[in-house]
Amino acid sequence: MPTDSANRDLAERLKRVESRNVTFLRPPPPFWTDAAGATVRDAAGNTYLDFTGAFGVALAGHGHPLIAERIAAQARRLVHGMGDIHPPAVKVEFLEALAALMPWPDTRTILGLSGSDAVEAALKTAQLATGRHGIIAFEGGYHGLTLGALAATHREHFRRPFVNRLGNHVHFVRFPSSTTAVEGVLSEIGALLSGGAAVPIGAVLVEPIQGRAGVRIPPPGFLARLAERARGEGALLVADEIFTGMGRTGDLLACDHDRVVPDLVCLGKALGGGMPLSACCGPAAVMDAWPPAAGEAVHTSTFLGHPLGCAAGLGFLAVLEAEDLAGRARRLGGRALDYLTTRLAGCEGVRAVRGRGLMLGVELVMPGSAAPDGETAGMGPGTVAAKSALERGLIVLPAGSRGEVVELTPPATIGEKDLEAGLEVLVSVITAARVSRGARRSTP
Ligand SMILES: Cc1ncc(COP(=O)(O)O)c(C=O)c1O
Repeated sequence: MPTDSANRDLAERLKRVESRNVTFLRPPPPFWTDAAGATVRDAAGNTYLDFTGAFGVALAGHGHPLIAERIAAQARRLVHGMGDIHPPAVKVEFLEALAALMPWPDTRTILGLSGSDAVEAALKTAQLATGRHGIIAFEGGYHGLTLGALAATHREHFRRPFVNRLGNHVHFVRFPSSTTAVEGVLSEIGALLSGGAAVPIGAVLVEPIQGRAGVRIPPPGFLARLAERARGEGALLVADEIFTGMGRTGDLLACDHDRVVPDLVCLGKALGGGMPLSACCGPAAVMDAWPPAAGEAVHTSTFLGHPLGCAAGLGFLAVLEAEDLAGRARRLGGRALDYLTTRLAGCEGVRAVRGRGLMLGVELVMPGSAAPDGETAGMGPGTVAAKSALERGLIVLPAGSRGEVVELTPPATIGEKDLEAGLEVLVSVITAARVSRGARRSTP
């Protein structure tokens, strides 16, 4: 880890001014100063290959020139508007461009600033449209940390301190990662939908591929059957495509892969080309459950439809089409999956390699009782691998409830040589770690 003095100094300063919960400072992380494409530079002048796309945001690459220019041009004209009172003109242009891509002929959208915002808007919409506020969500699911979204986020780590504010309206069911699990899951869902839940169910909220849970892909056909079950009982299928959407998995929406059109879609991350921008989209028949605006919107916020976000979003949509980001994600992701599958085949500590498009995961075996000690004690193997990769100039993130997965979501604009170089580093980090840990584990 390059704990060069510039990063160390910034860590010291941050510690004195930021809430201590937020940034993990031991050891001091690289503090980013510049980024272009898939390359990031830190305060100490070190460069890294970014295989995370910065939480999946930089699908078009960091600082894409077209997006940067759209932001700069908009900043020269209008930085802030009055979203729902005197709306910025660029909001209209962005909403039209987004609607043209969505699967409904009459798309209506509520914009937000974060993924959590989009989920909040979708859950409120579902309640208004169905008259029911119960939700079915999935074990392992991540939908954000604002209270409404947190209620549907599964991980204990986030829920425990606030559990008394999360109500009893969300029912978690297993996320099927094998065909054999599908029938059981669907019948559990069927029972909840048909009256077995404490609160009548209005929404089934699902990530078409679970991201933070470790790139967990449901069997083919599951989403379609889920949609059918939900609708059969008058509930809505809400697809949280905040991570998977806008080309990341090789299709515009991950639901497209299974030919499923959800009732509502949540978008975020890549959508704003690096600016905070999210959206809850749906057909008028669902979205018109909201009353017409009559002077005071029921659901809005100060920065809704922010001009810089909308300009960046328009830039992103232009790049998505011009550079065929979804097609690139499909091709490069397919190659990366083949490469990892071949190179890691038979590797002792690798449980699975999986992915779709440029959303890939390598699941590692959790260490036994002779877990690594010292600095890495208690960390999952994905976390340990991410730490080693960083020392070698590759940024990846751990995922999975115990940090057992290495998650890869690089920009779709990444060059082939960079992709190969990063994968090579990852393979050597994983194989080297297994050799040393394997040796340790064999010690009684
Ligand atoms: C699937 C999914 N939904 C919602 C969110 C929350 O988005 P945000 O962190 O922008 O609020 C995330 C963030 O990782 C996510 O992956």
